[in-house]
Amino acid sequence: MTEEQTRVRTYPPPEEFAARANVRDAGIYEEAARDPEAFWAGRARRLHWFREWDEVLRWDPPEVQWFVGGKINASYNCLDYQVEQGRGEKTAIIWEGDEPGDTRTLTYSELKAEVEKFANVLKSLGVRRGDPVSIYLPMIPELPIAMLACARIGAPHSVVFGAFSANSLRDRINDCEARVLVTADSGPRGGKRTPLKANSDEALEDAPSVENVVVVRRTGDDVSMVEGRDHWWHELMAGADPECPAEEMDSEDILYILYSSGSTGKPKGIVHTTGGYLTHVNTTTDWVFDLKEDDIYWCTADIGWVTGHSYIVYGPLSNGATVLMFEGTPAYPASDRWWDIIERHRVNILYTAPTAIRAFMKQGTADIEKHDLSSLRLLGSVGEPINPRAWEWYHEHVGGGRCPVVDTWWQTETGGIMITPLPGITTTKPGSATRPFPGIFAGIYDDAGNEIEGEGSGNLVIKRPWPGMLRTLYKDPQRYRETYWEKYGDVYFAGDGARRDEDGYFWITGRVDDVINVSGHRISTAEVESALVGHPSVAEAAVIGRHDEETGQAIVAYVILEGGHEGNDEMAQELRQQVRKVIGAHARPQEIIFTPDLPKTRSGKIMRRILRRLSEGQEDLGDTTTLADPSVVETLRAHAGGRS
Ligand code: WT7
Repeated sequence: MTEEQTRVRTYPPPEEFAARANVRDAGIYEEAARDPEAFWAGRARRLHWFREWDEVLRWDPPEVQWFVGGKINASYNCLDYQVEQGRGEKTAIIWEGDEPGDTRTLTYSELKAEVEKFANVLKSLGVRRGDPVSIYLPMIPELPIAMLACARIGAPHSVVFGAFSANSLRDRINDCEARVLVTADSGPRGGKRTPLKANSDEALEDAPSVENVVVVRRTGDDVSMVEGRDHWWHELMAGADPECPAEEMDSEDILYILYSSGSTGKPKGIVHTTGGYLTHVNTTTDWVFDLKEDDIYWCTADIGWVTGHSYIVYGPLSNGATVLMFEGTPAYPASDRWWDIIERHRVNILYTAPTAIRAFMKQGTADIEKHDLSSLRLLGSVGEPINPRAWEWYHEHVGGGRCPVVDTWWQTETGGIMITPLPGITTTKPGSATRPFPGIFAGIYDDAGNEIEGEGSGNLVIKRPWPGMLRTLYKDPQRYRETYWEKYGDVYFAGDGARRDEDGYFWITGRVDDVINVSGHRISTAEVESALVGHPSVAEAAVIGRHDEETGQAIVAYVILEGGHEGNDEMAQELRQQVRKVIGAHARPQEIIFTPDLPKTRSGKIMRRILRRLSEGQEDLGDTTTLADPSVVETLRAHAGGRS
């Protein structure tokens, strides 16, 4: 079947599923549209508030406040409130380590006890309400423990994904001026180890705000400990006070900062606050994943990305769910690792990314057939558009044809899921994220700022504020305004293209800015270019995202070397290493093309559109009349042979 043909088939919710679904009445869409504030207030009441709000929404674009005057604590909601509701002995986290059989479980009471102790550790290190804490940990229980401990005392956390380099870590620490860094000796993944403590030491050479480092002993690898600055997690925990009541935070106090790539080189510190964010992720977890009391829920993301923040930590735990947390990779020690985990832990809900599905597709179904996946009842997708063929394969082979698939569109900035099916209500079309969640108002605008009603394509916007919305960019309100609000005034510009079909379904077509999406990870072309140009042999670089069967997009770098340097394999390796060092391994270019020239406009702007088409081998390069020197195209075509 071709991609077009598969698109014709639609999938109504399976009857049995629909009959038991958490949301069964499609009238909820209309109800939420009629009075969105009342709708969200109703959802917020599922949470524990020390004091209820005076006003649901205060909106003065682009400033927004939700649940004004309300007092709440996210850690309290994920722990104490769950224990109060009788979930003290319920498993909160099932942790599965990189090595099969290395597992650990924590009940809600146990998790609460660890969090209270670590909150006291942070306090003893001088962390006060409002002080950001940087966290650079592998996927181990200490990661959510550290986050919830921060939330408990009102210290915003800034989690840095473990694959980021020392450089990237340093920039993120310096931007938020954290005084404490929480890390580990090293992080095992897929049988390899990331030297987190060594990276931290390197980052800290130039991060003067950090006074204390807490180090989890994960592997026992030898690390150097700086007297007076570095402390072992287990030693501090052994002496910590067991009780730490949760601070009554303002609904609009910062819960966390999470750095994400933008279209310029510098990462953006996306700020999420407490009451609205928690309401958004709590409700979407409940409704989109149709969470039931006894479910085992597994989101395969790393907590270092927003997906993990919202749908491993805050959404599921504030719903009292049992969350599976996995440290490793799909291929270690064998290619059936995920299916083995699903079978052994009887996983009911699986939330993953299209890139993983496509990688499995390539391997065929033999690994899946070796395992009993009958516990699965719902499948989710996130991170990039899922092509219909991958959707179908996921549905048929992983879900055995019986599980609804929810394709969820959202962003670090949106905090929670925005466009998605409701599994008991929505008839799905493979490849479409379907409709905005109740209480979310998505629209499509053309470049001139006209709204496109009905069928059509253009830029995706959100027309009304939503509770999980980013509030600002940390210490950079100007950039916040420019990036999201300048283009259209009072609607949020998402940076994605979208099409709406005859049924009002949304089809996300990908980024419209200079952001690349590789395996669901957002990478800025400008950031990779600046890393490359940082190498002494590089004169100029242009980076683009080329369509890739498996990873969605792949990074291709066009590089002009300084006179005298030769563009060979060795140089290409060196440049990849350079990007790894400056940003992290996930940002390494798949291909490096050495060229004597780049296509530019007369004003000197690199025309990436032309590079993109060239790299995909397209004959038609579109409009080339604005090129300063049209002959550059032939030069590039000639050099495409000399790839590395
Ligand atoms: C960008 C946001 C949200 C968590 C993961 C990534 C793309 C995300 C989908 C989807 C099509 C998607 C968009 C978006 N994206 N989900 N279901 N269908 N595209 O978060 O790193 O902030 O990236 O990921 O392009 O703008 P992020």
